[in-house]
Formats: sequence, C-alpha cells, structure tokens
Amino acid sequence: MPNQPTRARTGVMTPDGFYGRHAQTQGGAAGLGLPLLLRAAAALHLNGTPLQLADLGCAQGTNALVPMGALIDALRARGTQPVSVVHTDLPTNDWATLFHVLETDPRSYLRHHADVYASVVGRSFYERLFPPDSLSIAWTSSALHWLSRVPGTIPDHFFVHRSADRAARDAYRRQSESDWTTFLGHRCQELRPSAGLVWVDVLRRDDDTMGAEALFDCLESALRAARDAGTITAGEYATMVYPTWFRSLGEFRAPFTPHFMGPSGATLQLEELEPVELPDPFLESWRISGDADAYGRAQAAFLQGFLEPSFQDALKTRPPEIARGILTSLFSDTARRIAQDPPAVSPRYHLVRGRVTRVA
Ligand SMILES: C[S@@+](CC[C@H](N)C(=O)[O-])C[C@H]1O[C@@H](n2cnc3c(N)ncnc32)[C@H](O)[C@@H]1O
Repeated sequence: MPNQPTRARTGVMTPDGFYGRHAQTQGGAAGLGLPLLLRAAAALHLNGTPLQLADLGCAQGTNALVPMGALIDALRARGTQPVSVVHTDLPTNDWATLFHVLETDPRSYLRHHADVYASVVGRSFYERLFPPDSLSIAWTSSALHWLSRVPGTIPDHFFVHRSADRAARDAYRRQSESDWTTFLGHRCQELRPSAGLVWVDVLRRDDDTMGAEALFDCLESALRAARDAGTITAGEYATMVYPTWFRSLGEFRAPFTPHFMGPSGATLQLEELEPVELPDPFLESWRISGDADAYGRAQAAFLQGFLEPSFQDALKTRPPEIARGILTSLFSDTARRIAQDPPAVSPRYHLVRGRVTRVA
C-alpha cells in the first residue's frame, strides 16, 4: 500500500501521552514561574467581567495544571468571576491526551474550582489567537524557543547552538529575532490593559552555554553512528534538526526600547527578566539506586518526548514502520551512551523567567 501523506509534525511533542510522562524537566521549569504568575495576578485590574487565561504551547497539559491552579487560586482570592482557561498549541498537538489529563489528573484545576471552563485553540502562537483586549493573563513555559518554521538543514549537529556552521546559526538567529517580535505583537493586542504575560524558557548564557550540552551530544553521537552505519542517509541526518533558538538575555530584551509597542499602538512593559538554574530531576534517583541504565532511559525518553516528531518528518519518505524502527534504535543507542557516565552528562539547565504587563 502506498504511504499516506501525513501532516508535518515538526514542533509538536511525541503523542499518546509520551511527552507528558517524560516531561519532569519541563515540569520543574514551569514551577519556577509561579512567583511571577502570582505577581501578574496581583497587578491585574479586576472589573467584574469573566477572566480569560491562556496557556500557550500547552502540549498534553500535564505541566499546566499546577501553574493554572495557582493562578486561579490567586485570582479567586480577589473575586469570584468565572474563569476561562484556553490551552493553545499547534493543530497536530496530542489534544486527546490534553482533554484526558484535564478531566482525570488529580491536580487538574477543573477538579478544584467551580465556574472554571477549559477550551483549546489549535493554532500557532505566531498568529493571532484571541480578540483584542480579551486576555487577563497569558502563560507559556518551555515553548518560546520553538521557531515558527525550520530555517534550514544543519550539516554538523541536530542542535544549532552546537553547530560550527555560520550560515545555519545566522538563519536560526534571524528567525528567532523575527518570531519574538511577532509573538509580542500578537500578545500586545490580545492582552487587556494591566494584563500580564509570564514565561519560563531556556536561556543561552553569555558563554554560549545552556547547560545540557553533554546530554545533547550523546544524541548527536547516536545520530552520527546511524549515519556512518548507513541506517540514515547524509541528507536525512542534516534534516534531523531541533528547530529552536535558545535566546540570550539580550535577545529577550531587544524588542523593549524601553517599552515594546505593537502594531495597534498597545504597549508592553518588561517588568522582570531573571536567569534561573534548574537541576537535573533524574540524577537523585541514580544516586540512590546506582541504576545507570534507568538513568539513561529516563534522559533518552525526555529527549525523545520533544524531538521524535521533528525527526520523524526528516524520515517522511520511509515507510512508517521503518522510520519507527530507526527512531527506536536511535533513542536506545542514546540511552546506552548516557548510561555510560551519568554524572558526566547530567545537565544543569540555564533558564529564564520573565513577565511583561500591558501598560497602554
Ligand atoms: C517542550 S513543550 C512544552 C509544553 C508545556 N508548556 C510544558 O511546560 O510541558 C513545547 C510546546 O510548544 C508547542 N509549540 C511549538 N511551536 C509552537 C507554535 N508555533 N505555536 C504553538 N505552540 C507551539 C509544541 O507543540 C509543544 O507542545
């Protein structure tokens, strides 16, 4: 049977709940944004109308439950308005898991609050998602580094910040600059005056590091081994990329001069931008158990959770079961490489948390 055409899934997470089951790292990152969310809730002028919260780049919802719950608690302490929570992501996101998580996870805000309504939007956050002046608070965690499109192949590493290819780095940097401005432009129109946008994302420090280089290099070694063994072609290797750009503090700040003015004249003020560190959530289990294979599997599943659909797109000319087999071997080989020396590859993530308010 000929292969059915499939919709590109670059950028979405590994489906059937896989991402959510292996996203403890991103869960830890989201937790770092809670104090900023509470400050955004305190800064919002309440006018008695229903509140609208947005979770931008929600994936399977697992890591949104605690921040959205904390935000609703804080807002409810100030008033009893109905609250609408809109989870947004790309159209090919694993929405079925999201709905299941919202209904069944004991941490779900739907279980703890009355008069709260969940809905979704399947559209890129580089587009307009909401009517003008309608959002009370927008939240996004571990999502802003994803670019609106793949800027191109990378000849020597799946992760552009580990590449020596100047042209590739320039293309990704340019895309990131324009995406950040586009993102802020849309949110600027959607937030109502006094409303806030809070984010937690990866950070590239001044020394050009982000803290997980050794871990990412284990996957890169497995990719090169697959290419050298002829399991994947040189063309497929160069197309298997992580279409992201990890911004520096300066790149996050750049559109604020000192304020950011959107196309409609609405203005955002940068209230907070702070580097934070996140330790490896899997290392402690390894210290207790000494089970290096389990550590390798946990880290490889974390990588697979956010990379597999993008890598799958690079194998789209292969029959699906062959592509699946290639990716299974790739992540097993990665797990084996990680297990060789857990402390040597263990990441310490550099992250950033930020908050803006619409001031005019
Ligand atoms: C690493 S996950 C983070 C998910 C979740 N916020 C968390 O903290 O676990 C990144 C999410 O951003 C989404 N994403 C990537 N590009 C996007 C875009 N242009 N518009 C909306 N969502 C996007 C992905 O589909 C994915 O669900």
